[in-house]
Amino acid sequence: MESGFPELEGLKDLAIEQLGTPCYESPFKGKDFRFVSDDSGVLVYSNTKDIERCKAGCIQPPAFQEAGPRKKIYFNSKDVVAGMLTAGGLCPGLNDVIRTIVMQLTYEYGVKKIYGFRYGYEGISSKRHDDPMILNPQVVGDIQHQGGTILGTSRGDQDLDDMLETLQKFEVNVLFVIGGDGTFRGAHKLANLARERNLDIAFIGVPKTIDNDIFCSEKTFGFSTAVEEARSAIYGAHEEAEAAWNGIGLVKLMGRDSGFIAMHATLANSDVNFCLIPEVQFTLEGENGLLARLEKRLERRRHAVVVAAEGAGQNLIKDGEETMQDSSGNILHKDIGLYLKHQILRHFKEKGIPVTLKYIDPSYMIRSCEANAEDSSFCLLLGQNAVHAAMAGKTNMFVAYWNNHFTHVPLKTAVGRRKTVNPLGDYWQSVIAMTD
Ligand code: F6P
Repeated sequence: MESGFPELEGLKDLAIEQLGTPCYESPFKGKDFRFVSDDSGVLVYSNTKDIERCKAGCIQPPAFQEAGPRKKIYFNSKDVVAGMLTAGGLCPGLNDVIRTIVMQLTYEYGVKKIYGFRYGYEGISSKRHDDPMILNPQVVGDIQHQGGTILGTSRGDQDLDDMLETLQKFEVNVLFVIGGDGTFRGAHKLANLARERNLDIAFIGVPKTIDNDIFCSEKTFGFSTAVEEARSAIYGAHEEAEAAWNGIGLVKLMGRDSGFIAMHATLANSDVNFCLIPEVQFTLEGENGLLARLEKRLERRRHAVVVAAEGAGQNLIKDGEETMQDSSGNILHKDIGLYLKHQILRHFKEKGIPVTLKYIDPSYMIRSCEANAEDSSFCLLLGQNAVHAAMAGKTNMFVAYWNNHFTHVPLKTAVGRRKTVNPLGDYWQSVIAMTD
């Protein structure tokens, strides 16, 4: 397993919280054999060595509950009031997920009332700016062709009591939260409080982030599109670099604490010579430092492309400014792109070597666009499975993807942990082999 291999610690209890015994026959039109039972598990480890490791420790190899339609469901469709919100940064595919959830609730389960709460958690607090949108197939008909989110988004926590009161006011008994780690943290707290108060509300997460850093999900929606967009930026950087004598194309890409976008965009575009990610430290100076290696590359080929994830090289930047956080509690990184630009230009000026450097920061452009084909179909399956889970009365969980299966993961397993690039994994080893 390449990405952020989950260690046994924290995976011992993957049981999914259930609101009550499902006793309604599912109206889902899928074929009988498609129904999935709760005891169907997707093994976390697929490597025989890991299975042996579990056996040696007398541990049952951990497994995620398989997602999919249940034959018996918990909610009577006519009593369901569903709500959904999108929180955190934008991500290609948000509207695809919103649309799928609405279509699936309406056409497969016969749910009649669906609210779209506006601007993240703010939308279910008394601070909300707008009333929730009434969602139905007409409203969401064509939204999959738009980037962004029709619901709006925001970062940051809201008062838990206030949010539960709002949900009760609108009589919501199923809430879909579409977001990343910060959003899931909020949903987990809300689900816990709802349980303490015996409130019959299902909280289901759908993992969204271009950074692809959600723990226990092999991929998140939006990632594939972001990589594709990032590839165009690298292509531009390469053309610019190649067109000049000693040309350098420098690209900064999003990826706060995990370098998946930079790594995969590099692999998808074999013109990159240096790929810098947060998981792998590098030095600037010295024989093996980036600057000396860049100099050698220019001597050999007269052009070079450098790709840096925004979280890379943070240890190198000493600007005296105190560390800041955004409203989701994420550390705001110093600008590695501009830092590298200045350091590279300084180095070659000091050495008297003329270079032409073009700096490209596609920034928000890689996440505010329409989803690509791969993400759109992934969003569809995530959304459908989120609805199956909710109708079956699952809660405090999110729908994920693991070992070629859609799975249920308890929110508590993933919050506060992050999937990162494994420097010894196939992908990063391949980056090492093909760059410089
Ligand atoms: O979480 C995804 C992400 O794209 C990060 O890579 C980036 O640091 C962050 O969002 C920036 O988002 P915003 O400026 O909206 O806080």
